[in-house]
Amino acid sequence: MRIIFRFGGIALLVAAIVILAVLPFATSFVEQWTRRDVELRSQLVFNSARDQVVSLLARDDVGRLAGLFERIASDERVLAIGYCDGEDLRSPTRNMPASFTCAQAARSDTQSFSTIAAEGRNILVSSFPLTVAGREGHLVVLHDLSYADRRGGQARNYLFLALAGVAFGAAALAAMIAALIMRRWLASIRQALENARAGAAGQPERENMIPLGQEIRDVLQELEASRRTIDAAHTDWSPDTLRAALANELSGSEVIVVSNREPYIHNRAQNGGIVLQIPASGLVSALEPVVRACGGTWVAHGSGTADRETVDASDRVPVPPAHPSYTLRRVWLTDEEQDGYYYGAANEGLWPLCHIAFVRPIFREQDWQLYRAVNEKFADAVVAEAKREDPIILVQDYHFALLPRMIRNRLPQATIVTFWHIPWPNAETFGICPWREEIIDGLLGSSILGFHTQAHCNNFMDAVDAYVESRIDREQDSVTFGGEETLIRPYPISIEWPPTALEGQKPVEECRRVVRERLGLPLDMRIGVGIERFDYTKGILDRMQAIDALLNEHPEWKGNFAFVQVAAPTRSKLANYRQLQEEAEALAREINERHGSAGYEPIKLLIRHHEPDEVFELFRSADLCIVSSLHDGMNLVAKEFVAARDDEEGVLILSAFAGASRELSEALIVNPYNAHAMGQAINRALTMSQNEQRERMRLMRDQVKERNVYRWAGQMLLSASRLRKRQRIRRLIASGRKRAPANA
Ligand code: G6P
Repeated sequence: MRIIFRFGGIALLVAAIVILAVLPFATSFVEQWTRRDVELRSQLVFNSARDQVVSLLARDDVGRLAGLFERIASDERVLAIGYCDGEDLRSPTRNMPASFTCAQAARSDTQSFSTIAAEGRNILVSSFPLTVAGREGHLVVLHDLSYADRRGGQARNYLFLALAGVAFGAAALAAMIAALIMRRWLASIRQALENARAGAAGQPERENMIPLGQEIRDVLQELEASRRTIDAAHTDWSPDTLRAALANELSGSEVIVVSNREPYIHNRAQNGGIVLQIPASGLVSALEPVVRACGGTWVAHGSGTADRETVDASDRVPVPPAHPSYTLRRVWLTDEEQDGYYYGAANEGLWPLCHIAFVRPIFREQDWQLYRAVNEKFADAVVAEAKREDPIILVQDYHFALLPRMIRNRLPQATIVTFWHIPWPNAETFGICPWREEIIDGLLGSSILGFHTQAHCNNFMDAVDAYVESRIDREQDSVTFGGEETLIRPYPISIEWPPTALEGQKPVEECRRVVRERLGLPLDMRIGVGIERFDYTKGILDRMQAIDALLNEHPEWKGNFAFVQVAAPTRSKLANYRQLQEEAEALAREINERHGSAGYEPIKLLIRHHEPDEVFELFRSADLCIVSSLHDGMNLVAKEFVAARDDEEGVLILSAFAGASRELSEALIVNPYNAHAMGQAINRALTMSQNEQRERMRLMRDQVKERNVYRWAGQMLLSASRLRKRQRIRRLIASGRKRAPANA
């Protein structure tokens, strides 16, 4: 309503200004026109009476002249008439104003007109030259101009009324048109925002759509962007906030997660029963709490020996088994597929290629064909699970480089967020991969492609630049390939906060005692820990060499310091992994022989899978933790150690080549290739004051608490939501444009 008044008011104001400007011109035009009319009449009077006047004057027939003049003056427009003989006014008619003298008439050789004021009115004096018997004189005809003034006034009034009427009509029309347009614009924008909030695809309601202007689109985008930035920066991320973000930003959306490793493995136990195993995978431990919070479907390889027995007819099982909150959809692989896709292409090819731990990657064509076939198999499963045309699909890791493109081809409206959990090497190193173009093409099927660090994003964009034809926007960090844009973004992964494994933990003093007793160590023995899968990228041998260096350079620690290395066997089918285990066992033996003594072994190597609460107990019992990865995307062990230490003590020694070192800068940062320096760092950790330990630990705990895994997932989902809104608005604009010519 206000809009109508505002537009009507503006139209009225404009009309009033026009009237005020036009009216004086119109009035003066009418007055001049009337005066011209009077002048013409005077001329007519003169023309018709001239000869008679000249003859009567020549004869000096005053009586008949006066009679003629009175007859002429009887015309209602003529006021008076007379003859100016020089200054002498002769035979003036009765109505001649008493104040009139011949001096007031503009007398010249030609007819002339002047206006005088007499008896309170305007009078037009027309004077016409006459020559009578050689004497010059002037016939003067006086017209009352009040008539002209009246006509001007009337014209002004009619004009004013006419203009005012037109102005009111125009104002009303303008207001109605404005109201109509505004209503359609508002409906259009409201629809755009509602659809954007819903984030769902589908056709906009075409009836109410009009094209949105570029400005409006930009403003909407800016508003959205700034609001999101504030939200993301100020949110304390937890399962609840993640759920709320999902409900607010992506309500009604369907979330499907895809990874190779499943979060729950059912195995057949020796006693014939079924046991549940939670795999020792950084990917699983990060993602599982997120999917638990979000719900949805997780598609993964069913690798357990009792997995087939625990699914329904559609290969689905609700998990977590105790309190189901999402669906696990298992995909079955043959041994041949498993060998080629998982062990071969993924773990002998891409894993060493991306990690640069100086283990030569092996690229077998047969493996790649199986990798492609398995990616297709997972694409089939994802498409079968999708209930809508536009699900949000979270593709995980290097096992599925081709999957985003395959899904994109079949679900063009899906929002595909791919996260690469391992490092991305520099372009030159990546260039040795025979499948480089296909991998890049596959990944660029994603809407958003995430890495742990900006450095990995940059490496990826360099590889795109070097190996495929595309448009790279370094400012927006995006790649447009085949007409479609992929955003490249860093999302540092993390752990849940507070960690579930911390629940039910004994106090730190108690953990110290229990662990030492279990390991047969004296209660005052200082201990360090290292916990991971037995993988050559983790720098386990390098860490042992650092302990050797420490004991060589600081023999005072012999008998007083022990290092507990927990290593879960992994990928043991591969020669490199088996070899690493053998080498580690041999090196531990050698160091123990060199520095150990009766009842003292500096290195305790525990080669078995540890459950999360055992791991946390070990972390809480330790004086220090060593993470010496030769190269690591993030490394969550470092974050788990920090999370386990609610007593705010303990020192983290962390490789500069793990992504975690970008965030945990209060750790003692080391180069794992430098055994001597790492030995010095261990000594420094063992001699660090409690105060310094607390200061460092507090800062690191704040960091992990704030940048937890819910934030990781939340930020990716918010990016997805922003993208869906932007795409939605773009679709609206496109559909509005298409409609525009039809409307015209
Ligand atoms: C680590 C890596 C992940 C990878 C996982 C695979 O956690 O950080 O990127 O997906 O290992 O482990 P798996 O045992 O499944 O081969």
